[in-house]
Amino acid sequence: MASRRIWITATGAGVLTFAAVQLIRPAISHPPVTADLPAPPEIQQILRNSCYDCHSNETRLAWFDEIVPVYWLVAHDVHRGRGKLNFSEIGRLPATQQKAALYEAVNQIQFGAMPLPAYARLHRAALISAAQLSLLKSYLNPTTAAAMATPGDLASDDAEYQKWLHADNSNRAVDAAPNGIQFPHDYKNWKAISSTDRFDNQTARVILGNDTAVKAVADGHTNPWPDGTTFAKVAWVARDDGHGQIRPGAFWQVEFMIRDAKKYATTKGWGWARWRGAGLTPYGKDADFATECVGCHTPMRDRDFVFTEPLGVKELPPNSLQWNVITSLIDKRSSTMSTLYGNDVGVRYARSTAQHDYLPGSELLLVTWDQREDLHWFGGNIPGRVKAVEMVHVADRPDHRPSYSYERYEGSPLIRVSVSNGRSEGRAVFLLSLGAAVMP
Ligand code: HEC
Ligand code: HEC
Repeated sequence: MASRRIWITATGAGVLTFAAVQLIRPAISHPPVTADLPAPPEIQQILRNSCYDCHSNETRLAWFDEIVPVYWLVAHDVHRGRGKLNFSEIGRLPATQQKAALYEAVNQIQFGAMPLPAYARLHRAALISAAQLSLLKSYLNPTTAAAMATPGDLASDDAEYQKWLHADNSNRAVDAAPNGIQFPHDYKNWKAISSTDRFDNQTARVILGNDTAVKAVADGHTNPWPDGTTFAKVAWVARDDGHGQIRPGAFWQVEFMIRDAKKYATTKGWGWARWRGAGLTPYGKDADFATECVGCHTPMRDRDFVFTEPLGVKELPPNSLQWNVITSLIDKRSSTMSTLYGNDVGVRYARSTAQHDYLPGSELLLVTWDQREDLHWFGGNIPGRVKAVEMVHVADRPDHRPSYSYERYEGSPLIRVSVSNGRSEGRAVFLLSLGAAVMP
């Protein structure tokens, strides 16, 4: 009997406690909807149904959400969710930022990260179906090519390029990032790990890795990446020539991930930093900016927070991996992307003059890949199969006038399909004509 009385007393206490804690309720506010997402009704309907509880000022709670402790979790999620993305206020942002937020939203859905799994378990109707996801994607997927550059754009790109050619880019003064990370000047001499074409924000990007990164790729030690690994992602405004040929225009930004498990333990073992524009302005108000980086990279947690899959290196000529990147190209018509590499003589030349008379000893290599969709990022295309490798070699003749030879390889394994000598060959002229992309 005694044990039973204790049980009843304990239950009574439990009920009382349960009732009492119901009174501890952090408020969920309902501010007015000031600038709701401007989108077609079928798009709004999906987001409203699956995301608005946490990402708008129109939170609607189910009866079980009202019960503590569930209520506490909900209040916390709503607060944090609105802080990251608020569809009731998003209409105030410039159109490009609204678009970027929607791309990120689609990617979070695709990763299964949103709606929050704990919430989706209780609110089954909020789960996004495959049909809804494809509706969101087709809404975002642009059917039109990148806007053609205006003469004004091209003139300002050129002014930036000329200024960069004549500047000392090896040790100019650059402010540190808000988390104390110093600008790694030498990034332009790191090796290409891959490239991407982001149609979500119309930039062309090259991903470079330092020696530790390159060695880790060669050794297959990429998950986790060894301490000291550093990646640079360089982005340029993608300039469409109006015929589907896209080249890097104005320098947009360069950002870094520096691996050091101990030093950067609070930001997932990576130090994050970004510099914007050719003036290299550090990004972020304070050290907290890195939560934005970590947030978007979190779906890649099983791959040490790194999106990029290093290029298959086996199919490339071995010496090209020692070379630096001069520029990169995208061809929309053939759905290919290319990177132009040069040996030391070639790169030094390309980065110091707008002329195209490469010095003897210069070697240029253009690798062209078929593009494929980036399965980790809706909005990106990445290199697929190698389609062609082209080389131009500039030799010294006895009369000290340079002589040019051109070779083209295709297929898998790569087989030489053409060789020619002289500058007149069309593709050799094309390779020699490509200016260096600005890398301040
Ligand atoms: C139950 C609440 C809840 C729902 C429902 C929800 N989210 Fe979230 N969302 C959050 C929280 C909390 C965060 C912040 C996560 C963090 O800081 O780790 C977040 C973050 C995000 C982010 C920013 C990612 C980041 O961390 O930078 C995006 C984008 C996002 N949500 C999109 C969506 C979309 C799209 C939907 C609907 C399909 C959705 N969310 C539904 C709570 C929610
Ligand atoms: C909106 C999502 C998003 C945010 C925010 C973001 N990244 Fe990334 N990041 C990506 C994607 C996607 C890639 C893969 C390459 C590509 O498609 O551009 C990437 C790639 C990178 C890479 C190359 C290594 C890798 O993971 O592939 C670096 C370095 C990098 N990001 C740094 C940063 C830094 C620093 C920040 C914050 C200042 C940041 N990123 C914020 C989406 C994001």
